[in-house]
Amino acid sequence: MLRAPYAEPMSSRRFRQLLVIVAAGFAVTVIVVVWGLVSDLPVLIAAGGLVLAAVVVALLIVTIVLLGRLLDGRDSAPNAVRALKRDVARVHRALGSEPGSLQARLRHDVLRDAQALRTLHDALPSDREHVPLTSYSALPATALLLTEYVRELPSGATIVELGSGATTLWLALAAQRRGGDVRVISLDTSAEWATVTRAALARNGVDALVDLRVAELAPVTTAAGDQNWYEEAGWRDLADIALLFVDGPPGSTGELARFPAIELLGARLAPGAIVVVDDADRDDEREIIRRWSELELPGGRLSPFEQRERTVSLRLG
Ligand SMILES: C[S@@+](CC[C@H](N)C(=O)[O-])C[C@H]1O[C@@H](n2cnc3c(N)ncnc32)[C@H](O)[C@@H]1O
Repeated sequence: MLRAPYAEPMSSRRFRQLLVIVAAGFAVTVIVVVWGLVSDLPVLIAAGGLVLAAVVVALLIVTIVLLGRLLDGRDSAPNAVRALKRDVARVHRALGSEPGSLQARLRHDVLRDAQALRTLHDALPSDREHVPLTSYSALPATALLLTEYVRELPSGATIVELGSGATTLWLALAAQRRGGDVRVISLDTSAEWATVTRAALARNGVDALVDLRVAELAPVTTAAGDQNWYEEAGWRDLADIALLFVDGPPGSTGELARFPAIELLGARLAPGAIVVVDDADRDDEREIIRRWSELELPGGRLSPFEQRERTVSLRLG
């Protein structure tokens, strides 16, 4: 049964019809009674009374029936369907193929992701199942960007990823492609998700290239206030990080959730290190990048130098 907002009250057309019938009934009654009085005909007066009683009873029955229909919404179904059809037509128009429409944007995004995935698979072929892509996953364009950076790293470089998943596998495949002379360390707060990522690394024969660590969030005080970030045991030994991919902790864990990354790891970046920030289209990440760019780090300052889709890359120098 359709309910609000589509269930409309009893149609005003039906209500008007009812009023006309009742008014006509009264008019006939009045005429008959007046005629009876004027002509002194008790039969007509009695007939008028009967008609009046019949009209009142009919009115009562119709009111009860309509009230019942109004309460259970049955009467509004045809109106609801019409309203629904109007809404569907409106959505269809919004989805139309004109530039800027939802459909055009979706098509653009799908083609862009397909293109990036194809380039990734061409460059780093693998015939084993990857980590399932979800709404948490970085865009293929971001994964592609990371693999391009991995290609340029000096031998022996350390790559650190905050937040594991499909990107961990792409980083590992890129490391394998260059002979495994760089190492990947990935931190994740979720043991369950780490298991999914590890399984995909093993399936693709690159698990030995990644040190995937489960590190829970622990309280930390930064310039942004009291926050939670990966517990120190997960990153204490890190040094000379040449490529840092910041894709965790999830933004839902707190305001400016990823801000501590540079306060805690900034002094552990290698000269000329690249820091890649995902989800840089979000207000929090924009603010984080602004604050990081103002920090004086041992290796210099972080400056944005590249933007691809929703990813911003900064270089230390
Ligand atoms: C933004 S995700 C990291 C995604 C990863 N860098 C990638 O691009 O595939 C951040 C965190 O979300 C959590 N997470 C929970 N469910 C997930 C899922 N289905 N896919 C990816 N991450 C998930 C993981 O703990 C992960 O570290």
